[in-house]
Amino acid sequence: MIPSDIAAVTDYEAHAQARMTEQAWAYIAGGSADEITVRWNREAFSRLKLQARALPDVRDVDTRVTLFGRTPFEQTLAHPILLAPTAYHKLAHPDGERATVLAAAALEAAMVVSTQASVSLEDVAAEARASQSRAPLWFQLYLQADHGLSGALVRRAEAAGYQALVVTVDAPVSLRNREQRVGFTLPPGIEAVNVRNQPAPPAPADGRAALRHLLATAAGWPDIAWLRGFTMLPILVKGITNPEDAERAIAHGADGIIVSNHGGRVLDTVPATIDVLPAIADRVAGRVPLLLDGGVRRGTDIVKALALGASAVLIGRPYLHGLAVGGAVGVAHVLTILRTELEVAMALTGRPTLAAIDRTVLWPES
Ligand code: FNR
Ligand code: LAC
Repeated sequence: MIPSDIAAVTDYEAHAQARMTEQAWAYIAGGSADEITVRWNREAFSRLKLQARALPDVRDVDTRVTLFGRTPFEQTLAHPILLAPTAYHKLAHPDGERATVLAAAALEAAMVVSTQASVSLEDVAAEARASQSRAPLWFQLYLQADHGLSGALVRRAEAAGYQALVVTVDAPVSLRNREQRVGFTLPPGIEAVNVRNQPAPPAPADGRAALRHLLATAAGWPDIAWLRGFTMLPILVKGITNPEDAERAIAHGADGIIVSNHGGRVLDTVPATIDVLPAIADRVAGRVPLLLDGGVRRGTDIVKALALGASAVLIGRPYLHGLAVGGAVGVAHVLTILRTELEVAMALTGRPTLAAIDRTVLWPES
C-alpha cells in the first residue's frame, strides 16, 4: 500500500502528485505569487547547523511535551508534532478528515481541524472518540466580524469536545497564481461543510473577488478579546510573524502563539518562520507557549525549532501527501517517520528530553 521507495516524508510528494488531479495538486502544493516564502521556509532550516555530541550518555529519549502548564488548560502531548489545520482533506482522499483523525489517534498526534474541513467538526470528533484517541483535537477558526457566526462555531466545537481554539489571523484568501493558472475550483461533493451557512470564499482565479472577500470578512484585535471573553477554551493565535504582533496577541488574551506564514500561502516574500522565531521568542519570554509551522520536513527541523524557542511544531503539506497516497496509513507513516527522526536527532545531539534542547544544540554561528 505504501510505496517501498519512501524513506523520508518528502518522498511522498511525487507519489501524491501522481495520484491527484492537476487542480487538487495546485491547491495543496501552491503558495502565494512566486512561492518564494514556500521555498524559504525549507531553505532556512537547511542553513541552520546542528552540534553533534560524541558518545552521548542518552539511554532513552522522551518526546513528551506539556503545553499551557500551570494553567487550567494544561495538556500533555506524547510528542511535539501536530497536524496543522488544512482545508478539504477530501481533495487528497475520499475519506478526508476521517482518515486523518484515525492516524492522529493511532500516533497520539494532536490534530487541528480546519473551519474549512470537508467533514463536519462533529463527525471528526466522533471518529476520534470511537478510536479512543488520547490526543487532543483543536479547532481552527477564521474569526468573522459577525460574532454570531463565529460564536456558533465555537459553541459547536466546545460541545464536540475540542480542547483548544486556533484562531488564524493571517488571511484565508490571497493571490495564488498556481491555482489561478489551472483555474482551481472545488470538485462536486467537496465543500466546507462546517460553514455551509456562510459566504463561500471566492474562486482563486478571481483576484478582485478575493480582495473583496478579504476586506468584507476582516476581523480585528478586538475580536480576539471578544473571543477570550466568550469561551473557556485556550486560544492560540496562528499566523504571527513578528514580535509586535506577538505582543498584541498576548495583550488581547492569547494563551498561545503559532508562528506561521500559512506555509507561504498568504503574503509572498515574508521571511521563513524559523528565521523570525528567535526574535518572537525573545519578546514573548515564556509568557505563553510558542508553536511553529512552515517547512518542517525532518526530525532535525523539529530540534531546530525547539532550540530557537518553540514548544512544538505543526506540519501541513507532508501529511496531506501521506493522506493522498495511503489514507490513514499514509498519514500515520508520515508521523512515524518524523517522530523517529526526532528521536534519533535527540540521541545524536545528546538531548534525552525536549526540555534539554536549547540554543546550544545549534552550531554557534548559525
Ligand atoms: C493550509 N493552511 C491552513 N491554515 C489554516 O489556519 N486554516 C486552513 O484551512 C488552512 N488550509 C490549508 C490548506 C492547505 C492545502 C495548506 C497546504 C495549508 C496552512 C497550514 O495550517 C500551515 O500553516 C502550513 O501548511 C504549514 O506549512 P507546511 O507544513 O505546509 O510547509
Ligand atoms: C488555504 C486556506 C483555506 O490555505 O487557509 O487554502
